[in-house]
Order: sequence, then structure tokens, then C-alpha cells
Amino acid sequence: MPASSEILANARAFVKNELARDSSGHDWWHIYRVTNTALEIARHKNADLFVCELAALLHDVADEKLNASKAAGMEKVKNWLEENQVPEEVAAQVLEIISTMSYNGGHNEPMKTLEGKVVQDADRLDALGAIGIARTFAYGGHKGHLMHNPELAVRTEITKEAYRNAESTPINHFYEKLLKLKDLMNTDYGKKLAAERHAYMENFLAQFYGEWEGKR
Ligand code: ADP
Ligand code: NI
Repeated sequence: MPASSEILANARAFVKNELARDSSGHDWWHIYRVTNTALEIARHKNADLFVCELAALLHDVADEKLNASKAAGMEKVKNWLEENQVPEEVAAQVLEIISTMSYNGGHNEPMKTLEGKVVQDADRLDALGAIGIARTFAYGGHKGHLMHNPELAVRTEITKEAYRNAESTPINHFYEKLLKLKDLMNTDYGKKLAAERHAYMENFLAQFYGEWEGKR
């Protein structure tokens, strides 16, 4: 069996190559940040560091946006774990985490394992704070959306239809998703980090609306 450090190095190389062409917010540096945050939370919670790091590294490889289907994406990860001789019990945990962790409007089943909770918190934290704000505007630019449209009512749920009509703006995305995340965190440490990043985003919004009207 290869050493954990060797498996992790191979995972990094694999993911860098897989996500090299992405500009929708799933680039390598998203993975880099999520992995570091996952390790930080994992140390606080005494979670299995190898499982957390490997799951964080691979968590977006199976994303629907980057594959023909979610199933095809999962198959890719499964094959990689086999080819790299990842121990079966670790591979099973990693696959379970990746298959259940996407946001899905906050309607997914709660994560079952501590390691799953840790990695999901780390991914959610990357949608919050200064980085979260930057990613949201980068995404809106990528999609050609207006950054804000005060003539549209604020929506807290966004339908696929509204989305296609470009009625989703980065500012509305705060209400659709970003401001909801702090209440969806799994771990106490994740909650604490999320609360800080949440407050930062509220300040940002107050400043943004003030500047919009020339009042700040
Ligand atoms: P992840 O898989 O990391 O949870 P997503 O694929 O949902 O992230 O989105 C990638 C990034 O783009 C995130 O920071 C997210 O908040 C942002 N994003 C997703 N949808 C929108 C949208 N409609 N408008 C603006 N930003 C968005
Ligand atoms: Ni992610």
C-alpha cells in the first residue's frame, strides 16, 4: 500500500490537472483553500486528517458542471481511488462524503460522519467572507450577469427559470445562499468561523447599498 503522503501528492496532481480549465469557481485554489480549512477544523475536532484531506482534494472532481453527469463524475473518483490503491475503508468514506456534500439549496441529508461534517463546513466557508464575496462576483462575471439590479425584488429561492433569464445577480446570491450558510454549519468551530465571515458580508452589503445611492 502506498504511503498516505504519496496518495495525497498524487491527488493534488490529479486535481490540478482535472480543474485546470475551470473558471466557474472550482479552480485549484478553491481546492487549496478548502483543504487547508478542512485540516484546520479537523485538528480542532480530532477528525481523521487523511480522510478529510483526501475528500477535500477530490470533492469537486465529480461536480456535475465538470462531467457528463454526477454518476460519471463519481465513477471517475472511484477509479482514481482504485488505481491509487487507497485503502478500501478510506475510499468508501471519501466517496460517501463527496456524493452527499453539495449545497442543493440546503435540502440534502445531513452529513453522517465527523469527517463529512468537517469537509462540508470547509467548502461552505469558502463561499463566505472576503473570498466568498470575490467568488460570487467572479461567478456573475463568468455568467454575464448584472452585479445588482435594484428593480428586481430580493429572492430567497431562485428557480432555474429565473436563473436562465439572468435574474440572479451576485447581490441576490447573498440572499439565495450565502447568508443562509451560517445556520447550516455542522461543527462548533465551523459555526464560529462562519459567524465572523457572515458579519463581514453584512458590513459589505451595507457599504454596497450606501455607495449605490451615493450615501457613503
Ligand atoms: P461549491 O461547489 O464550491 O459549493 P458552487 O458550484 O455552488 O460552489 O459555486 C461556486 C461559487 O460561485 C461559490 O462561491 C458560489 O457562491 C458562487 N455562485 C454559485 N451560484 C451563483 C450565482 N447564481 N450567482 C453568483 N454566484 C454564484
Ligand atoms: Ni467546492
